[in-house]
Amino acid sequence: MIKVSELTYSIAGTPILHDINVTLPAGRITALIGPNGAGKSTLLHLISQQIPFDRGRITMGGLDLAKTTAPARALKMAVVGQQLGVASRIRIRDLVGFGRWPYNHGRPTPKDQEKISEALSHFDLIGLQDRFLDEVSGGQRQRAFIAMASAQDTDWLLLDEPLNNLDLHHARCLMTQLREKVDREGKSVVIVLHDLNYAISWADHVVALDKGSIAFEGPLTEVATTDSLSALYRTPVVFGDLAGKPFVQYHR
Ligand SMILES: Nc1ncnc2c1ncn2[C@@H]1O[C@H](COP(=O)(O)OP(=O)(O)OP(=O)(O)O)[C@@H](O)[C@H]1O
Ligand SMILES: [Mg+2]
Repeated sequence: MIKVSELTYSIAGTPILHDINVTLPAGRITALIGPNGAGKSTLLHLISQQIPFDRGRITMGGLDLAKTTAPARALKMAVVGQQLGVASRIRIRDLVGFGRWPYNHGRPTPKDQEKISEALSHFDLIGLQDRFLDEVSGGQRQRAFIAMASAQDTDWLLLDEPLNNLDLHHARCLMTQLREKVDREGKSVVIVLHDLNYAISWADHVVALDKGSIAFEGPLTEVATTDSLSALYRTPVVFGDLAGKPFVQYHR
């Protein structure tokens, strides 16, 4: 598990996250939800140690992440951020290959090539593997970054709004892949989602952030309710089911 204890983070004196205490369970999909500006991306950045924090502690399976090196962390967690830098003249296969860097330091082995091909295939990129990153669509580029993280083959996968640019087929394929990584390979996933229907359909656990604090967290079926979700988004959210599957309605 990832355990966040008494975490506080400010920017130029403005508190962004206050006294966060939360546990992200291993072997589960955890949906990180909450309104714009709640602090979801900031929390992911802090967990992946891309920015130092003022106070608190983050451990992964008892290991203090602040005391680990970047190469050691790269073997434990892969992260796909909300803003994807576009390294222009790089081919998709080479980008996905960067996911294997922590293992091979730029000298890919046949096993690395196998992992790269597998990730390309899982994210429907085989036909695009020789294309340059700046010559594909937004959703295709997004899938390439997710495939790179997948090829990194870490115990933890942290994804910030990975569905943003994906059509409904590729969004469902991604969630299926994540479910398989968790159920078959014992991996752990933390995923920032805005579409609550993806959260209730695929996640096991939920962490809801609001104004830099934890609003609620726990097993999704216990804590995600009409009342908790409506209060979180200050919007009427109706929780029900559609053709026997859980469904939330909030569009109008
Ligand atoms: N570089 C920065 N300087 C000042 N404030 C910042 C900076 N980056 C983020 N913030 C503020 O920190 C807060 C949390 O931002 P964060 O990006 O974590 O939100 P979020 O929950 O991911 O939102 P979204 O759903 O819009 O992606 C926001 O109020 C934001 O304006
Ligand atoms: Mg964000």
